[in-house]
Amino acid sequence: MNLVNETLGGFPTAEMATIPYATQKKQAFKHIRNIISEPYFVDEKQKFTLFKGDCLDILSRIPDNSIDMIFADPPYFLSNGGMSCHAGKRVCVNKGDWDRSKGIDETHKFNLEWLKRCQNVLTKNGTIWVSGTSHVIYSIGYAMQQLGFKILNDIAWDKINPPPNLSCRYFTHATETIIWAAKNKDSKHCFNYSLMRKMNNNKQMKSLWAITAPKKEEKLFGKHPTQKPLALLERIILASTKEYDIVLDPFTGSSTTGIAAYKFDRHFIGVDRNEEYLSLSIKRFNSEQNAKRGKEEVRLAENNIEKLIAV
Ligand SMILES: C[S@@+](CC[C@H](N)C(=O)[O-])C[C@H]1O[C@@H](n2cnc3c(N)ncnc32)[C@H](O)[C@@H]1O
Repeated sequence: MNLVNETLGGFPTAEMATIPYATQKKQAFKHIRNIISEPYFVDEKQKFTLFKGDCLDILSRIPDNSIDMIFADPPYFLSNGGMSCHAGKRVCVNKGDWDRSKGIDETHKFNLEWLKRCQNVLTKNGTIWVSGTSHVIYSIGYAMQQLGFKILNDIAWDKINPPPNLSCRYFTHATETIIWAAKNKDSKHCFNYSLMRKMNNNKQMKSLWAITAPKKEEKLFGKHPTQKPLALLERIILASTKEYDIVLDPFTGSSTTGIAAYKFDRHFIGVDRNEEYLSLSIKRFNSEQNAKRGKEEVRLAENNIEKLIAV
């Protein structure tokens, strides 16, 4: 039996059903990783992998129907010389060349291309989350509708303490939208409803999420200009994936998605063109790995003490 092909094809046979989910996902992850290209980084337990390159190229090498969940924080194409406020100072909004707009038609063409590839690689019940501001989110939403995704929610992320608007000619920009969508109308998507309810004081969780910008300790190893808060990605991972699932971020940056995925025992594939951001990702991963090992050692020690007391 070709375990990996069966797993990737998404048609589990009777035999497949007897294979633990963890083993199926481990095999599938290894297979996907091996056929993409030489990874830029892979951890010793082979759960966290980074690829350097253009996501359009890497996505086209990933087998169809193999990824359980995608989080994408694509270029918002807002680096056009505008001004903003940071730590009380007037600063230029430019994030880098990767964020410079070539016009709305080019932006929409790009969004259609990478979203189409993402749709191909999602499993039949897989979901995608895409973040954006007004610069890009209407194109993303339209492209998703054109491609036949099933839109599940549009989350309004309330940043709680956004920078003030210096011009005083607009409201302070305080939200981003995160569209959550399933591969198509037939998908039976994963939603961990009870967990979300529990995390929200036993009330149904709303699509309005109040989460502050990344904390100081999330930027200990360097700064990515558009780093997302870990709490945001933790909620997304916990809401829409199961343990051992395969999570992909095609615009990984400092790999906030990967850190959250690793924390909760999911497999992770991150892609970025920029080496500086990939090396920042590795530093963040190493720190999370040490923290996780430390917690595991404490847990084992506590178990041993409990056993000794019971004797
Ligand atoms: C908005 S940032 C993502 C930040 C990330 N969510 C984080 O928490 O750090 C977008 C990233 O996409 C990368 N990027 C832009 N175009 C790309 C492409 N075509 N392929 C791969 N990466 C790309 C940029 O280098 C940048 O790091």
